[in-house]
Amino acid sequence: MLLFIEKKVSGFSKKPWIIIDVGAGNCLFSLLTIFLFPNISVLAIDNHPCPIDSSKVQRFEYREIKIPRDAENLLADLKKLSQKAPLIFVGIHLCRDLSRIVIQWYKTFGTHVFLMPCCVGKFKLSFPRLFKETFGKEDLWAIDLWHEIHIISEKSEIFRDEKILSPRNILIWGKTKNAPLPH
Ligand SMILES: C[S@@+](CC[C@H](N)C(=O)[O-])C[C@H]1O[C@@H](n2cnc3c(N)ncnc32)[C@H](O)[C@@H]1O
Repeated sequence: MLLFIEKKVSGFSKKPWIIIDVGAGNCLFSLLTIFLFPNISVLAIDNHPCPIDSSKVQRFEYREIKIPRDAENLLADLKKLSQKAPLIFVGIHLCRDLSRIVIQWYKTFGTHVFLMPCCVGKFKLSFPRLFKETFGKEDLWAIDLWHEIHIISEKSEIFRDEKILSPRNILIWGKTKNAPLPH
């Protein structure tokens, strides 16, 4: 995911982007990003307690909240953060419709969104039977999410990265009009 982000976000290694790592889990992605990119700050969000002592990590903040139930204050904070630096929303293996919420946050506050979809949520598109027979449900779920991103983005992409060990290995990217183009 990090390699994909670096490729798609113009000036990723140089500018002060803020990554919003939704459903951060063990925070491995967040910590790796901070470690490798000294210009990046991360806000990690999960409904479980922070797995590390966040006070010891610079450029890292953790919010233990259940989305969407406790997200009211977070929305005001996302607005403030977006005025400081461009926001990149990341959702790796998010449960069901959490990805939809990330897409809405991207639409409102973000410049880029990156998803690696996992378990299937509620579909918006209605796929023909042929598609259902040809592709698995997880693939159609990823296409459904990509389509939602595609129609609100200036550029978007969806592809399968066979190098990812997990079978949930589809990557989705979208960027808004105002976001700098990839190099
Ligand atoms: C499958 S894990 C992915 C973790 C991490 N992104 C990774 O790839 O290792 C999904 C994460 O989303 C969190 N999560 C699920 N529902 C949530 C909700 N409603 N609000 C906040 N976090 C949630 C879970 O606690 C879990 O850590």
